[in-house]
This record gives sequence, structure tokens and C-alpha cells, in this order.
Amino acid sequence: MRVRKGIVLAGGTGTRLHPMTSAVSKQLMPIFDKPMIYYPISVLIQAGIRDILVITTPHDQAQFQTLLRDGSQWGLNIEWAVQASPDGIAQALIIAEDYLAGSPSALILGDNLYFGSGFIKTLQSAKRRNAGATIFGYQVGDPSRYGVIGFDKVGKVVSLIEKPSRPASNYAVTGLYFYDENAPNYAKTIKPSDRCEIEITELNKIYLNRSELQVELLGEGTTWLDTGTTKSLLAAAQFVSAIEERQGLRICCPEVESFRKGWISSEALAELAIPLQKSGYGDYLTKIASLK
Ligand code: G1P
Repeated sequence: MRVRKGIVLAGGTGTRLHPMTSAVSKQLMPIFDKPMIYYPISVLIQAGIRDILVITTPHDQAQFQTLLRDGSQWGLNIEWAVQASPDGIAQALIIAEDYLAGSPSALILGDNLYFGSGFIKTLQSAKRRNAGATIFGYQVGDPSRYGVIGFDKVGKVVSLIEKPSRPASNYAVTGLYFYDENAPNYAKTIKPSDRCEIEITELNKIYLNRSELQVELLGEGTTWLDTGTTKSLLAAAQFVSAIEERQGLRICCPEVESFRKGWISSEALAELAIPLQKSGYGDYLTKIASLK
């Protein structure tokens, strides 16, 4: 299927983070040393995807454009779309229909953070799959906050339930989804839920019912964090800070991921570092650019 197009959904009103997000989009908030949206963009780059549609609310779009521009500085092609109101994650596929023009896609939520060894390999196998959909499960202590995967005795996926009060397992569905070219059409058939959203879980259930859903379980070597509440936002910042300070490196920098893919040169990376010197972020880019 060779997924070449990605979608980052950075809409929503961030009500669970008000008043922090009353005037600023949640996905522009910092996670330690970089804006939240850098993390999902890094995942798409790691998956080898450089054509990216960023979906924002209408009023936040200009700020995202100031930050990300057209992506060419990072070797990407970024295009823009808006979600007029927060009507659900699966609506992103409908909004992206013209952009995708019949191509398969990878959809990632603008507030999800993935990190760890093994994750890139998992991504690549999802990307190579020929048809259907791939979702990623991760073991959590509080599955009721998420879409939850139910398994039968031999480990086959038998159910997907959004925010169940009695979860069938501890496996949450994370905010990264690979879909074949049928996703926009399937999404259009979904009726809004009780919370008035076109649920991504319903789209995944369509693939499950067609026996076209693949689930990759992210193991102990991978960390998945979402950042939807003040506590989870702080936990994510602490996680990034602990790893970066301990190892003296920075994680999920789109510039560095693009450089590793060979999409920008060391000269271009060094150039990107110049306006970022004072924060130390630029020093890191300079260091990476000089390691040949
Ligand atoms: C959404 C999805 C849910 C998924 C979660 C991952 O939840 O509906 O299935 O597990 O993202 O972050 P929401 O952020 O809408 O509560």
C-alpha cells in the first residue's frame, strides 16, 4: 500500500486544559522543549512520510503556519485544512478526502507522543501492509479513558469499544492509524455518537467487521503518552526532560528526523540552528549537523 500521505489532526478546543488553552491551541503548547505538534510530525517523518496535511481549527491555523510554514525547511510538503468544529477524529478523513485523492493515509493525533526502540520497525511494517487498516495498542492502567481493544482466548481482536466503563482489556487504542484508500468513504457512513462526534473507533470497527483490521501491540520498549489533561501534559514533559537530560540528546526533533532520512543536508540543518541558538535547541541541531 506504500503510505505516502499523512494527516495530523490538531483541532479541538482543549477544554480539559482550560484556561491554558483558552487562547492558544493545545497542540502549540510546549512539551518540555518543543511544541506538542513536533512530536506527531516526527512520527510521520520516522514513517517515511513527507506529504502532510495539518488540520487545525479555523482560528488557530495562522499560528500553526507561523511555526511550520510549508514544511520545505524540513524537507516536507505541508498543506493545510480546517475542522470548523470538533466533530470527531474520523471527520479528519472526510476533510482530507480531496487531499488524499484515493491514496492510503496515516492519521496521527496532534497531542500524541511516541518514543522508543522498535517503534520505527513497527511503523514500517504497518506502512508496507497492502490493504485494510492498522491500529496500535498500548497497555495502560486506566483504559476507560480510551478506545479499548477486546481479545479472544487466542489473542484475536474481537471488539473495540470507546471509553468503556468495564474495559475488556488494558489495551488502549493509541492515536495513530494507517488506512487504505477506503477510509474517507467509510467515515462518511458513520453517525455521530452520544458526544456528537464521528468516532474513530466506529471507523476502526468497520475495518474489524470486514476482517481488515490489523493491531500492532506496542511493547515495553515503546512509550506512548497522550497529553490531554494537565497531569498527563506534565508527565509527558517530565518524561522528555528525563530522557533528554540523562542522555544529553533531544528526542522527536523534526529537523533531526528529516536529516536522518536524508531529506535535508547537514548545511541546511546547521542553517536551521542559527535562530534557535539561545534556547540550546539550536546547539543540538549544530551538534548533529557536525557529526558526519
Ligand atoms: C481519542 C479516541 C480514543 C483513543 C484516544 C487516544 O480519544 O477517541 O479511541 O484511544 O483518542 O489518545 P479522545 O481524545 O477523543 O478522548
